[in-house]
Amino acid sequence: LIQLTPALPLSGQNVLVTAGGTREAIDPVRYISNRSSGKMGYAVAQAAREMGATVTLISTPTHLPVPAGVQMVTVNSAAELLTAVSARFSTTDLLVMAAAVSDYRPVNAADEKIKKPANHANLTIELTETPDILKTLAPQKTTQYVVGFAAETQHLLANAQRKLTSKKVDLLVANDVSKAGVGFNGDTNQVTLLRPGQDSVKTPLQSKLAVARTILETVVADQAWRH
Ligand code: CTP
Ligand code: CA
Repeated sequence: LIQLTPALPLSGQNVLVTAGGTREAIDPVRYISNRSSGKMGYAVAQAAREMGATVTLISTPTHLPVPAGVQMVTVNSAAELLTAVSARFSTTDLLVMAAAVSDYRPVNAADEKIKKPANHANLTIELTETPDILKTLAPQKTTQYVVGFAAETQHLLANAQRKLTSKKVDLLVANDVSKAGVGFNGDTNQVTLLRPGQDSVKTPLQSKLAVARTILETVVADQAWRH
């Protein structure tokens, strides 16, 4: 029998996966974050390891088990995530940005816990934009294959197509997070895969691990086509 696909198609590749929702400090005990569970990123890390890759998983704190054989790095904020990804990008073959990066952070994180004022006045926290990690890394790209995600509640394909182009990624995984069983927090997902100049591919509703394998098989097929 001829083996058409190698058993470990990612062997020899350094795969960097980001996961979870970043935490932007308000004060020493509070932060701004989002509903990302980290499950999709952890599933990608596990699937990449099972396909033979050397895997580093950069995640915000979660209660998920670390996949076997995966090197774990914990970060909190978008700024910390940018530093951790940038430090490893030049030696990365495949970057998968599954993290839900906060778009804004408090301008000033208070040094002490913010106390309620006696007059019950409203509290205003001024926010400023965080760095866009994918856009920051795009000019440094050489041979890296980069996968981005898009979480949308409306106009899924149009918004995802814009992100595919503006973020200069090789593959964009679009998630309709307004649907039950899709995207944030659950154990299942249904995604649409977009690549420059190619027809989009809609995957069925399946476990996040199965979706992760489909994403990585798409990457492997693309890499083979490139060489
Ligand atoms: N991303 C990033 N840096 C940010 C924000 C997002 O690298 N500061 C990455 C995410 O990890 C994801 C992709 O960009 O892979 C798309 O994230 P998304 O939140 O869907 O898009 P945004 O560009 O932030 O646009 P918006 O939230 O306004 O839809
Ligand atoms: Ca965003």
